[in-house]
Amino acid sequence: MYCRSLITFLLSLSFASALVALVYGTPVVKVDDNMVRMPIAKLLNFTTGSTSKILVRDQARFRNFRLRTNASSPPGGNSPYRLDETEVGTIVATDQVVDYVVEVDLTDALATDMLLVDTGSANTWVGASQPYAPAESNSSVATGQYISVHYGSGRFSGIQYNDTVSVGGTLNVTNQGIGAANTSSGFQGVDGILGQVSVVNLTIGTLSPDAAASVSTITDNLFQQGVISSNQVAITFVPSHTIGSINGELAFGGTDSDKYIGNITYAPIATSPAARSFFSTDQSITYGSQSLPIMNTTSGIVDTGTTLTLIPSNAFAAYQNATGAVMDSTTNMLSIPATEYDNLQSLFFTIDETTFEFTPNAQIWPRALNTAIGGTAENVYLIIGDAGEFTSEGINFVNGMTFLERFYAVFYSPNSTVGLANTLYTNSIIN
Ligand SMILES: *[C@@H]1O[C@H](CO)[C@@H](O)[C@H](O)[C@H]1NC(C)=O
Ligand SMILES: *[C@@H]1O[C@H](CO)[C@@H](O)[C@H](O)[C@H]1NC(C)=O
Ligand SMILES: *[C@@H]1O[C@H](CO)[C@@H](O)[C@H](O)[C@H]1NC(C)=O
Ligand SMILES: *[C@@H]1O[C@H](CO)[C@@H](O)[C@H](O)[C@H]1NC(C)=O
Ligand SMILES: *[C@@H]1O[C@H](CO)[C@@H](O)[C@H](O)[C@H]1NC(C)=O
Ligand SMILES: *[C@@H]1O[C@H](CO)[C@@H](O)[C@H](O)[C@H]1NC(C)=O
Ligand SMILES: *[C@@H]1O[C@H](CO)[C@@H](O)[C@H](O)[C@H]1NC(C)=O
Ligand SMILES: *[C@@H]1O[C@H](CO)[C@@H](O)[C@H](O)[C@H]1NC(C)=O
Ligand SMILES: *[C@@H]1O[C@H](CO)[C@@H](O)[C@H](O)[C@H]1NC(C)=O
Ligand SMILES: *[C@@H]1O[C@H](CO)[C@@H](O)[C@H](O)[C@H]1NC(C)=O
Ligand SMILES: *[C@@H]1O[C@H](CO)[C@@H](O)[C@H](O)[C@H]1NC(C)=O
Repeated sequence: MYCRSLITFLLSLSFASALVALVYGTPVVKVDDNMVRMPIAKLLNFTTGSTSKILVRDQARFRNFRLRTNASSPPGGNSPYRLDETEVGTIVATDQVVDYVVEVDLTDALATDMLLVDTGSANTWVGASQPYAPAESNSSVATGQYISVHYGSGRFSGIQYNDTVSVGGTLNVTNQGIGAANTSSGFQGVDGILGQVSVVNLTIGTLSPDAAASVSTITDNLFQQGVISSNQVAITFVPSHTIGSINGELAFGGTDSDKYIGNITYAPIATSPAARSFFSTDQSITYGSQSLPIMNTTSGIVDTGTTLTLIPSNAFAAYQNATGAVMDSTTNMLSIPATEYDNLQSLFFTIDETTFEFTPNAQIWPRALNTAIGGTAENVYLIIGDAGEFTSEGINFVNGMTFLERFYAVFYSPNSTVGLANTLYTNSIIN
């Protein structure tokens, strides 16, 4: 079975029984109101000794986003964001301590795969842990294409198939393009990626010989096959600092009014063309009751594969100055003494004409997990990181999972726009 090693790993760490239920495939999917829902589990890897790579990994991923926007230009080129080969090889996707995973079945192959949830990429692939076995699947169709994708923190290559994917055994998506990795690096502990959102342009250039071809995502196929009536995915997470909690949900095809408060603000697509390949918005940020300017309005993206929230260097310096935080050399994250926590003020993210308050508690790494990232229990670490130099035309920030645990997010595929709303957890004191 594909994920036996992961199951063993989970059990050996005594993950919450709810997650074990998820792994074993008890009802994981609900279809009603024309929506398909899948639970997302948050995995925390405490076995790793190199957990302070959390920021480094996010930054490598971010540089790769900047690089990807030039995907159609000749490979390599002179892009300042081009990743060093050695860098790609040494930063492991699962070094981030936190992984958000869903369970996906390849029905005929009788395989269950734990896949990373990723709104920052669009190819779905398996095989990082156990090879995909087309011979065992009557529904597997060879497409005649090879596939190869580089992420900021890993890569894979292999062969592209179409197969029937079952989400939870209750619903089949036929003709789903699946990459079957024959080599991969950077993906220990998971079997691949569910690039579940529909910025299909991100798949262009990943196949060969037909480099101009795109691959429909699961969201696209659910929509085209008439299972859902709107080509969108809504994502909710509950802030959590416990091991193996099922703290999130992917809902294809609609929104759940009991999961958010007030209205959803659908942000206009980012002004920077570079950001538009992803789920993008323009934002500005201020700090505290005096509205200290932190970041002028600029383009960036919302991404489930990034843990922290990264802002450009000049904005990061302004934030550090405003909070009085110091750079902690062990975690590479900003840190303030616990006694200063009460002085921390809210950040305000303004998108279009709506302002979202990001509370002091939302800005700190869960204190219960300080030691997991190599920090000390007494300190307070901040989840705002440095994205690198501001570029007038590029992608300047990324709202990662630390952001998405506080807001309801809707990823609307046809024009790659994002909707955001407050939730019951926007102001919760949990970290
Ligand atoms: C993309 O390519 C253009 C032209 O080759 C170059 O000027 C720009 O710096 C590149 N951008 C990135 C993000 O690499
Ligand atoms: C594939 O088809 C063969 C012949 O119809 C059948 O014996 C076999 O059980 C099928 N395999 C699966 C996994 O459904
Ligand atoms: C694979 O599936 C896609 C739809 O997801 C379809 O357009 C394509 O024709 C299929 N290819 C083969 C070889 O069946
Ligand atoms: C593995 O995939 C690569 C690239 O997609 C391809 O060139 C190679 O032939 C494949 N190897 C095998 C053994 O299938
Ligand atoms: C999904 O596909 C599998 C194998 O192709 C089949 O056994 C199962 O009955 C299908 N489920 C549904 C709900 O159609
Ligand atoms: C946890 O991290 C260690 C070290 O990086 C790695 O070897 C292991 O595969 C990871 N386990 C999971 C489930 O991610
Ligand atoms: C939500 O939008 C509706 C219609 O635009 C408006 O009447 C209402 O006041 C808004 N509610 C909130 C809480 O902003
Ligand atoms: C995206 O599409 C939706 C639905 O058609 C529309 O309401 C919205 O205005 C569009 N947003 C942009 C920025 O084009
Ligand atoms: C995707 O690519 C098509 C064709 O190149 C282009 O027309 C479209 O604007 C692109 N969409 C996005 C969101 O970049
Ligand atoms: C924001 O824009 C103002 C006016 O153009 C400029 O003075 C300031 O330096 C900018 N701030 C940042 C953080 O970029
Ligand atoms: C740092 O903060 C002080 C006091 O709030 C302010 O006067 C100064 O302009 C800030 N410097 C930067 C670089 O933001």
